[in-house]
Amino acid sequence: MASSQRLSILPKGLVRPRALASRIQPNASRRKSGPYGYTQAKALVFSKPGEPQDALSLHAHSISPSIPSSALLARTLAAPINPADINTVQGTYGAKPPFTSLIGTAEPSAVPGNEGVFEVLAAPGGSDIHKGDWVIPARSQFGTWRTHAVAEADDFIKIDKQGLNPLQVATVSVNPCSAYRMLRSYGPSAGLKDGLGMRPLEVGSGAWFIQNGANSGVGRAAIQFGRLWGLRSINVIRERDSAEETDALKREMYDLGADVVVTDAQLHSREWRDQLAEITRQGREKIGLGLNCVGGKNATALARSLSEGGTLVSYGGMAKQPVALPVGLLIFKDIRFVGFWLSKWNEKDVQGRKHMINDILDLIRSGKFKDVPVEEVPWHWETEEATLKDAVQAGLGGFRKGKGVFVFGDT
Ligand SMILES: NC(=O)c1ccc[n+]([C@@H]2O[C@H](COP(=O)([O-])OP(=O)(O)OC[C@H]3O[C@@H](n4cnc5c(N)ncnc54)[C@H](OP(=O)(O)O)[C@@H]3O)[C@@H](O)[C@H]2O)c1
Repeated sequence: MASSQRLSILPKGLVRPRALASRIQPNASRRKSGPYGYTQAKALVFSKPGEPQDALSLHAHSISPSIPSSALLARTLAAPINPADINTVQGTYGAKPPFTSLIGTAEPSAVPGNEGVFEVLAAPGGSDIHKGDWVIPARSQFGTWRTHAVAEADDFIKIDKQGLNPLQVATVSVNPCSAYRMLRSYGPSAGLKDGLGMRPLEVGSGAWFIQNGANSGVGRAAIQFGRLWGLRSINVIRERDSAEETDALKREMYDLGADVVVTDAQLHSREWRDQLAEITRQGREKIGLGLNCVGGKNATALARSLSEGGTLVSYGGMAKQPVALPVGLLIFKDIRFVGFWLSKWNEKDVQGRKHMINDILDLIRSGKFKDVPVEEVPWHWETEEATLKDAVQAGLGGFRKGKGVFVFGDT
């Protein structure tokens, strides 16, 4: 693991872990403002991977007012519970967070949470970040399930908060960015790169893409970018308990700009082949891209729906089943199977990431992009550990009305 990752909650190069740890005292008080200007803080932590219910605990600590001169102190406003965060706690994610004793845990521990928005309480002099500004983590695995963070100014990206609410900013950097990157990188294009290392889209080309998990955060974003960029989408959702609920979800997808919405069952039905032919005008219109976050049979059906030479991009495995690749699709249809991981893209293209985030926030401000439905999980000083853990545990359950997001009170 890179040292920058290990120290991402620390002012880099300025404070040795022990030095900062000595300024952070565990369980000092349950008051939010402690004596002598100490900030009382709490974080969800885990020291060993496991199911969130078992692995997570709520750790109270206090932060000294004398933080390093180049560091900033921020309080968390909102932090989502994404599937990848839960997989991180379970130990099944592709990257491990830093395990340290910096906040005074008995054992080296990690704070989960990849994204979130913070309000700056104290900023270093000479920085362009000031008290009251909103910032988001500049790196993956920052650890956002905490009431407060102390870190170097360049561990954050400053956000122009004008016209935005904390939920919109807290949820911008993972799901919408993944959809943006995948459509830009694998969507129909002239094969050239723009200045940001991304392929320019043939805007208005009307080309099709197909995706499963269409009602996920990523899926909803892909529908909307597709519509904005002139791509057409076929969207696969899972059936709900009743036809009315399924129709209501389909309507939500159409309202976002979906062109076609079908259920899992339709995708696997005998009629799908004919329906697809009708959608693509007997194959005259091509489906060049598939986005898969489910896996198993669903991914295979998606791949079968692609036109010759199409690409299936796998970016998630919600069904926890392997993606089976029929040999015929490889040989006779020349289908490409690739994987996508946003964290890698972010590392490679820091400027491109900032541009993308600002671009998406502009779309939100102008009402052209709707944020994902959320189930707010209030996190106040008195909130019980069990309440927070339950919210995390529920995050991987299917058929949810909205994404769980911790919304912090005046901690
Ligand atoms: N590779 C990357 O860089 C990257 C970046 C972002 C996200 N992701 C991945 O993308 C996926 C979606 O993330 P998200 O945050 O957008 O999700 P989300 O908003 O939390 O929504 C979860 C989605 O998964 C579906 N789902 C849940 N359990 C399922 C199951 N057993 N079988 C089939 N579908 C199931 C849900 O459908 P129902 O409503 O029908 O339950 C819903 O569409 C996750 O796997 C996540 O790890 C990957």
